[in-house]
Amino acid sequence: MQKKDINWGELGFGYQVTEARYVSEYKDGSWDEGRITEDANIVLNECAGVLQYAQTVFEGLKAYTTEDGRIVCFRPDLNAARLVDSCRRLEIPPFPEDRFVEAVVETVKANAAYVPPYGSGATLYIRPYIFGTNPVIGVKPADEYQFRIFVTPVGPYFKGGVKPIVIRVSDVDRAAPHGTGDIKAGLNYAMSLHNIVDAHAKGFDENMYLDPATRTKVEETGGANFIFVSADGQTLITPKSGSILPSITRRSLMYVAEHYLGMKVEHREVLFSELDNFSECGLCGTAAVISPVGKINDHGREICFPSGMEDMGPVTRKLYETLTGIQMGHIEAPEGWIKEIL
Ligand code: PLP
Ligand code: COI
Repeated sequence: MQKKDINWGELGFGYQVTEARYVSEYKDGSWDEGRITEDANIVLNECAGVLQYAQTVFEGLKAYTTEDGRIVCFRPDLNAARLVDSCRRLEIPPFPEDRFVEAVVETVKANAAYVPPYGSGATLYIRPYIFGTNPVIGVKPADEYQFRIFVTPVGPYFKGGVKPIVIRVSDVDRAAPHGTGDIKAGLNYAMSLHNIVDAHAKGFDENMYLDPATRTKVEETGGANFIFVSADGQTLITPKSGSILPSITRRSLMYVAEHYLGMKVEHREVLFSELDNFSECGLCGTAAVISPVGKINDHGREICFPSGMEDMGPVTRKLYETLTGIQMGHIEAPEGWIKEIL
C-alpha cells in the first residue's frame, strides 16, 4: 500500500481530512449495521440535540506502525468501555463495545495510507464520537443519534514535542463536584476554551485545574491527567478524584511503573501543597503521550521541578520510552493491550 505524500515529521496536532470515515445511525431503538463513507460532512436539522443541548460524547485513541511494519492500536477496549460510561451519563444509547473495536479496525484499515510510518514521530489519531441528531426543543435526550469515527495523522500535541512545558494554576474550574468531569463529553471542553485561550495569551501551555470543592487538591489539565515522581525517584504518584477523566494512558503508566520499572505506585488525592516535594511532573494522555512539566505558576509563585526546562526527567523518560516501546511493538506488551489491525 502506497502511503500518502505527507511530511510526517512536520505534523502538529491538527485535523486533515482523509478518505474514509465510519458511520452508524441509531433510530427506532437500535443501531444500524454501520458503514464506511467518503463524505466528511454531516447535514443536521437546526434543532438537533447536539446543537441545542450539547448532547455529544467522544473518545480518542491512536494507531501506530510498529518497527516490523504492522499497524496496531492501543487498548481500544478501554475506549469502548469509557464511551459507554459517557453515554450513560448523557442519556445516549451506548454503542456496543465489541462493535466499537470492530469499527475502529475497519476505519483504520480504510485509511491505512494515512498511518504514519514507524520512526516518523507521527501517529494516526482516531476520534470516535456520538451525538444527538433529531430535533429537540424541550430539554430532553434525542431519539436519534450518529456514531462516527474519523482519523487524522498527527504530530506532538505541544509544540516542541517532549520539551518541558509551563502551566499555570487555573482560577476557574473544569468540572463541578458530582458533575461530568469523569466522562468524555464535549461540554467539559467547551467550558475550558476561554481559559485555554487566556492561558496561551499569558504565555502558559496549559491550565492546572484544582478540585472544585476545596481548591486544595490537584485534578488534571484540560486534556490530560497528571503524573508526579517522588523526590527519591522510586514512586509514581497520580491524583485520584471523582471529577477527573480516568485516563487510559495514566492507568497504563501505573502498570508500567509497577511491573516494568519496579516502582511503587500511589493513586490517591494529591494536595497542591505537596508539589514542592516532587522531583518530576508530567501530563499524560493519548494526545499528550507524556509531556514533561518544567514549571507550575501559582499566581506568580513558581514551582520549578528539579528536572528543569531542558529535558524530561529520568523517570519520566523511562516511563515514556517503555510506554511508547509497547505501543510501537519493540517492548513486549501485557496481554490484550495491542490490537492488530493490519
Ligand atoms: N483528561 C482529559 C480531560 C482528556 O481529555 C484526556 C484525553 O483523552 C485525558 C485526560 C487522557 O486520557 P487518555 O489517556 O485516555 O487519552
Ligand atoms: C485525547 O488525548 O485523546 C484527547 O481527547 C485530549 C484532547 C485535548 C485532544
